[in-house]
Amino acid sequence: MSEAAGATAASVPSDSESALPPAPPPGAPLLEIKGLKKHFPLTQGVVFKRTVGHVRAVDGVDLTLRRGETLGLVGESGCGKSTVSKLLVALEKPTAGEILYKGRDVAKMGGRALKQYRREVQIIFQDPYASLNPRMTVGDIVAEGWSVHADIAPRKGRLQRTQELMDRVGLNPDFVNRYPHQFSGGQRQRIGIARALALQPEIIVCDEPVSALDVSVQAQVVNLLEDLQDDFGLSYLFIAHDLSVVRHISDRVAVMYLGSVVEEGTDAQVYGSPSHPYTQALLSSVPLHEPALRGQKDRILLQGDVPSPANPPSGCRFRTRCWKAQDICAVEPPALVDRGQGHPSACHFAEARTVVPVDVD
Ligand SMILES: Nc1ncnc2c1ncn2[C@@H]1O[C@H](COP(=O)(O)OP(=O)(O)O)[C@@H](O)[C@H]1O
Ligand code: SF4
Ligand SMILES: [Mg+2]
Repeated sequence: MSEAAGATAASVPSDSESALPPAPPPGAPLLEIKGLKKHFPLTQGVVFKRTVGHVRAVDGVDLTLRRGETLGLVGESGCGKSTVSKLLVALEKPTAGEILYKGRDVAKMGGRALKQYRREVQIIFQDPYASLNPRMTVGDIVAEGWSVHADIAPRKGRLQRTQELMDRVGLNPDFVNRYPHQFSGGQRQRIGIARALALQPEIIVCDEPVSALDVSVQAQVVNLLEDLQDDFGLSYLFIAHDLSVVRHISDRVAVMYLGSVVEEGTDAQVYGSPSHPYTQALLSSVPLHEPALRGQKDRILLQGDVPSPANPPSGCRFRTRCWKAQDICAVEPPALVDRGQGHPSACHFAEARTVVPVDVD
């Protein structure tokens, strides 16, 4: 008897547990993040722990990832990018806000729906070595997810399937019984990619996947991710601290500062006419490969460090480092809206400024 035919009124799954709908067409919203917050409690005391404050790691993030696109998420270290990625793959629970996947609230998913979400939204990490179990062979690492999602790969054909995946990500399938330490950094990242692909995901959250790799290897891994996107119609949230890496792969880019998004737009908008001072400063620090163009770059030196997210500045969080700050900036948090530049920017005094020559890669 089929599962559906066997279901009685009492056992009909609630909406939260029923399977997720099919993915929307390319270009339609697949994942929507609304007002997302994650505050970690700061505690004091050894025996009696008291909460003395909160680290506002993510403090009101809105983002939309459309099917088949790559959304770049950029910002300095400590601004909350990894926390966003952990919230997305349900490794952390939001303090507030919503994550909607295929129109369904992830926080309200249970049973089949949550299992399916965990399979369809995969993650690859910055440090592939730390995220791969050193005592497992590559074959076991790639196949691990099939123990939970057995329906994807029938037990009999798993070795062949694993080797096909290894081949697809550019690893020698004969090395299926080797251990992570026997591979280079770039190859280890390929193992992480194969592990994610094994679960036939819709989305891969890429948390600084190339930041720890040599520049030459970075390009190879980015090219591989692009090929896989074309072949499987994947959607990526691609996180980096460097705008130059994201530019290569992203359709749209969101710039994050101290827990929230300060500017968002297409690749051409954010690179060609950045309007938030923080984006302008980040772009100014991107190295240019063409010596002839270097003199044309607008140099902006960013003063100081990112303030503590446990005690962020009032009003605009960037004001302690901003050369344009006025009195209003200390009082009124600027909303992320279009102020006439054609794309949203969270600055009271947003104005487009060409920082790097437009045709630069
Ligand atoms: N589990 C945690 N407990 C307390 N603070 C945390 C935790 N995880 C991250 N943080 C803090 O949240 C802020 C953002 O961290 P993170 O998301 O890792 O930023 P990024 O990935 O942009 O470098 C940092 O100040 C970090 O110290
Ligand atoms: S709102 Fe004020 S402090 Fe913030 S980025 Fe704009 S000018 Fe600078
Ligand atoms: Mg991080």
